[in-house]
Amino acid sequence: MNPILVTGAGGQIAARTLEHLLERGHRVVAWVRKEEDRARLLHKFSENLDVVVADLTREDEVRDVIQRFSVPPGGWIHLAGMYRGGAFHDTSPEHLRTLMQVNVETLVIPLKVLLPRWLAMEPSPGVQVVALGAGSGLEGAAGSPFYAASKAALRVLIRSLDQAYAQKGVCFGILHLMHPADTRTNTSLPSDIPRIPLTTLAHTLVLWVEGKLGHLQELNLYA
Ligand SMILES: NC(=O)c1ccc[n+]([C@@H]2O[C@H](COP(=O)([O-])OP(=O)(O)OC[C@H]3O[C@@H](n4cnc5c(N)ncnc54)[C@H](OP(=O)(O)O)[C@@H]3O)[C@@H](O)[C@H]2O)c1
Repeated sequence: MNPILVTGAGGQIAARTLEHLLERGHRVVAWVRKEEDRARLLHKFSENLDVVVADLTREDEVRDVIQRFSVPPGGWIHLAGMYRGGAFHDTSPEHLRTLMQVNVETLVIPLKVLLPRWLAMEPSPGVQVVALGAGSGLEGAAGSPFYAASKAALRVLIRSLDQAYAQKGVCFGILHLMHPADTRTNTSLPSDIPRIPLTTLAHTLVLWVEGKLGHLQELNLYA
């Protein structure tokens, strides 16, 4: 079984996701940006885990890391991302560029290296890529328009990639994490409806990357 790649592996959602993957017997390649996260993960999970350190927006570093993989990953949970709020009138184009870089390019840059490797595999690999989106990427958000725009871009990118490559054995999906308190839109749940705990979110991501949810491009979960 090829390992599952988890990018943004130093983050909060990743911590629970790594636990679930390892409990279910997967080998995991965890991708972090900071050495301290590498040390922390290796201390916490001693078996079946490799940790690589690189900034996902630096093309040369990313290429170097991926070329050192002995086998291509059998699936990819992409959790690297950034929330940064701020109303339009308070933020600059640089703010938008940063969010596009962290929320979109961190998927694009590694995928440019991984996809040709997957597509060259015979037989077709059956790989699932799952990324994390946000409710505001579906509906917009007055207080964080650039964050919303970056997640909307990620959503359309994922759908387009799935349309292009699912038939060739590489499927793409996006889980939109809905925050009713932030988005207050007509997809928000009333406050008395229970929301999923982090552990269920992590479990869903794992089932998805394992291909157990079938072919699914999008899923909204209320956290
Ligand atoms: N938590 C929520 O309520 C929520 C809601 C909606 C959507 N989401 C999405 O869910 C995903 C995970 O969220 P989270 O709450 O777990 O966030 P988090 O704790 O901030 O984790 C995000 C991770 O991405 C990493 N990262 C960012 N830029 C990177 C880069 N250029 N190269 C390598 N790693 C990079 C961060 O590393 P550093 O620590 O080194 O910066 C961090 O470990 C994100 O896409 C987020 O937008 C989360």
